[in-house]
Amino acid sequence: MNKKIMVTSALPYANGALHLGHLAGAYLPADIYVRYLRLMGRDVLWVCGSDEHGAAITIRAKKEGISPQEIIDKYHALNKETFEKLGISFDYYHRTSALLHHQTSQDLFLKLYRDGDEFEERTIEQYYDEAYGQFLADRYIMGICPKCGHKEAYGDQCENCGTALSPLELIEPRSMLSGNVPVLRPTKHWYFRLDKHAGWLREWIEKGILDGKPHHDPEQWKKHVVGQCLSWLDGGLQPRAITRDLDWGIPVPLPGDEAKGKVLYVWFDAPIGYISSAKQWALENGKDWEAYWKGDDVDLIHFIGKDNIVFHCIVFPAMLKAHGEYALPRNVPANQFLNFEGQKFSKSRGWGIEQHDYLEEFAAFPNKEDALRYALIRNMPENKDADFKWDEFADFYDKELADNLGNFVNRVVVLTEKYFGGYVPDSNADLGEILAEADVLARRLTREVEAFSFKAACQTLMEISSFGNTYLQDAAPWALAKENPDDPRIAECLFASLQMVALLSVLCQPFIPFTSPRIRALLGLEELKNGELADVLSRLDKGEPLLASGVRIGAPEVLFPKIYDRKDTSRLEILDRQKAKLQAIMEQEQSKQRAPFKELVSYEDFAKLDLRTGTILEAEKVPKADKLLKLKVDLGSEQRTIVSGIAEHFDPAKIIGQQVTVVANLAPRTLRGIESQGMILTAENSKGELMFVCPAVPFGNGFMVK
Ligand code: MF3
Ligand code: ZN
Repeated sequence: MNKKIMVTSALPYANGALHLGHLAGAYLPADIYVRYLRLMGRDVLWVCGSDEHGAAITIRAKKEGISPQEIIDKYHALNKETFEKLGISFDYYHRTSALLHHQTSQDLFLKLYRDGDEFEERTIEQYYDEAYGQFLADRYIMGICPKCGHKEAYGDQCENCGTALSPLELIEPRSMLSGNVPVLRPTKHWYFRLDKHAGWLREWIEKGILDGKPHHDPEQWKKHVVGQCLSWLDGGLQPRAITRDLDWGIPVPLPGDEAKGKVLYVWFDAPIGYISSAKQWALENGKDWEAYWKGDDVDLIHFIGKDNIVFHCIVFPAMLKAHGEYALPRNVPANQFLNFEGQKFSKSRGWGIEQHDYLEEFAAFPNKEDALRYALIRNMPENKDADFKWDEFADFYDKELADNLGNFVNRVVVLTEKYFGGYVPDSNADLGEILAEADVLARRLTREVEAFSFKAACQTLMEISSFGNTYLQDAAPWALAKENPDDPRIAECLFASLQMVALLSVLCQPFIPFTSPRIRALLGLEELKNGELADVLSRLDKGEPLLASGVRIGAPEVLFPKIYDRKDTSRLEILDRQKAKLQAIMEQEQSKQRAPFKELVSYEDFAKLDLRTGTILEAEKVPKADKLLKLKVDLGSEQRTIVSGIAEHFDPAKIIGQQVTVVANLAPRTLRGIESQGMILTAENSKGELMFVCPAVPFGNGFMVK
């Protein structure tokens, strides 16, 4: 099979660090897929890179008071390096500020401009900042959201209610550059005639038919992806502006004044970054990039998050089709969103964790890369939004990686050491049945990966390990050895178990690539080669062992020391610190919502108060007053009737007997015809709840002896 597989992952904006949601969305699933394909000996190229244009970058630069170039250099380097540390194995990580990318994008623009009837020019009215002498990108305009009244809505979207907006819809627009009210000025832009592509796009998305021929099986596309595409198509496709008035980006490659000061829209050039990344890879490796992008024998697969679906399933395919030579995506297995401990990731709130911070804060955590990858895979938002929780992270790690996989590998190695001095035993037994069972599961795993069901595939991996554990437990070589140390079934059992560990060392690599070589080292096996899994599967089919008798294996090693370990709480402490951080964020936010302090009171004024302790004897609601309770309070020396505005906070039935503090010399007041003879003291806690200021006995009943 010399079919080429071209895999892409969404180019992240180089305006910030990436968090776990990004990783689980477009990078980790692609990494599993690509690692698997390599192990199957398939011809795959996986590219990514930094998306370095667009207003998001220039706004960030302005905020930090540095140049856009400094921003992209910083985050390009950080993101690239962090991906590497997490085992994300791109073949190439390029960047859209590269000259090669500028040229590639301009060439594509020109091809569509010249050859086809693909563009139209329009002169439109756009907001202009007179003080700064420039047109304002949508993101540079803020105002009041017409839908929800949010005061800080952007020109393209209100982040409060999620509505997509155009700058002209904003109420009281202002420029983020000068703060002034922008004025409208005419400006010329180029529009891509997406509307002309609606016909074939629908047939392609709905039926998988392209140019009258079957292209892909639409049943294999995720339902939510097809659904989103169809609802776009149903809404009707409009020409889309693909140029902007901005001084950061790829210049519109047209002569004359009309294109001056204009750049390609970031969403026009960014996906072309997939092509230029492949070109750069080819250049550096002496390869042919076109073989991966052109012709019928190419499978193009885009890994993205769901917010990018329309660009990858409608706009970019239309660009490729309009160009004429490129292959269209065979599948776009977009993921949904990952939340974090029940809420959206939010940089400004500090809610969530960025990948590079994870690596730092988990520096002392054993096998931290695979621990994270595993937790994200097991909870991957493949078809619906998912929620990342530290408690689940711990459970997946302890129950699956440690108790299942780690335990199986460890037991097999320890028993081999014990009964055979660390050598793979000789066995003439027929392993057919055992290996056949493992083979069935391994085949299932491959089908799941090929169907982009990584969560299921990962569970199958654990099933193989469980199968091994159960087999070992049932065969109980330790019991056999007690009866007769020469029982041939001991060798048989360990020989078979070692084969399963060898199989796992290959199958686990796409998921937990840091653990795989450690297992292989334990078995004295060499590093994995491309095509190794295809090899292993065909050996299993034939009932051939993966690990030969007589091989010296390594010393036992605990792959995943458990988190919940009474003797060593260091790992649990790392997780607890994360949870404490979140708790602190929530408390801080709650306390910020509290009313500001009132103005100062002099000591003399304060000293006028006569405070007494008391006990509530009776409590009832005051009729027709939502806020008032009528209380009878015993001060010891006398009883008082007090009307208190606490009815919305306390259930009258539950405060009988409550100890309270009373201002005993407050001038009486008549409320709703009841004379109130004092006041009960209450105070707000940090969560904004009302509490009684409650007389308390000191710790340890520590009254001073009189
Ligand atoms: N930078 C975009 C984002 O983070 C994704 C660009 S994907 C590409 O949403 F196709 F345009 F490259
Ligand atoms: Zn809104």
